[in-house]
Amino acid sequence: IKKLAVLTSGGDSPGMNAAIRAVVRTCAYHNIECVGVYRGYEGLIEGDFEPLTARSVKGIINKGGTFLKSARSKTFRTKEGREKAYQNLKKENIEGLVVIGGDGSFTGALVFNTEFNFPVMGIPGTIDNDIYGTTHTLGFDTALNTVVDAIDKIRDTASSHNRLFFVEVMGRDVGHIALNAGIAGGAEEILIPEEDLGLDRLVESLNRSKTTGKTSSIVIVAEGDKIGKNIFELKDYVDQNMEGYDVRVSVLGHMQRGGAPSCFDRVLASRMGVKAVESILEGETNYMVGLMHGKMQLTPLEKAIKGKTKINLELLRVSDIMST
Ligand code: F6P
Repeated sequence: IKKLAVLTSGGDSPGMNAAIRAVVRTCAYHNIECVGVYRGYEGLIEGDFEPLTARSVKGIINKGGTFLKSARSKTFRTKEGREKAYQNLKKENIEGLVVIGGDGSFTGALVFNTEFNFPVMGIPGTIDNDIYGTTHTLGFDTALNTVVDAIDKIRDTASSHNRLFFVEVMGRDVGHIALNAGIAGGAEEILIPEEDLGLDRLVESLNRSKTTGKTSSIVIVAEGDKIGKNIFELKDYVDQNMEGYDVRVSVLGHMQRGGAPSCFDRVLASRMGVKAVESILEGETNYMVGLMHGKMQLTPLEKAIKGKTKINLELLRVSDIMST
């Protein structure tokens, strides 16, 4: 292999720039050419490429977002789209592709490899931490710090006004952000899709806390949780079924995806970039690099996509004990 391409796809996450930098510099280290693809698979189809050298990626390890930009491409889901992408790669003599993204992006990479036998390697970049084969996805740690910072600020105003706050956090269908940030932010209750607390038990628990002397409370709600139809209905229910609390809702939204990557995410991105490039140079394909037991490890893309990440039951118990 003499030339590789790298792209970022799906929802962006802090640390993607650091990962691109790591891929580009590992290529330079091994005397391999590297090409950046803009706007994920969209750019692959349109041939929106730029040669990247070790110097092109200076000053970006600390930047949030992705300078290559990201997209969720509909055209790449079609055979014609993928055919165009393949022709563009061939025209540029590119012999392998590093995809930084989530499960949707990995599905695209796998289909692409199956059709054209083109070497692909995945780097898990998403704040949701919902990819099997790595204890941490890129951006998860930074997002947690962002959420905890927001909870701390909400707590200031919640306690000044004796209010109950429902704070909605991202995470798509999983509760990793909610559970971890909830514990770190001292939340009263944490509602996640993996565990159905039920409205009655929630009200019961909040009432119990009140009788033990709590004057304000924060409940973290994962966006994928199904306890209410949405967080505003949840608020209405609690408003109607609980006395003595002024209830407010705060939906944190996309601010959770931005910001400078944490030290942890920068180191993780650097390790993943090195491992991804060196694995593809060793002839590996259809894998995702991940962090397991403190080490870089390869997981087949198929498993990474289909495997379920499990919620840490110990964390659930800790959260229960902490809200005593
Ligand atoms: O997968 C990352 C994520 O931020 C999820 O947490 C969230 O559900 C989704 O993307 C939001 O997507 P969009 O940016 O397209 O609104």
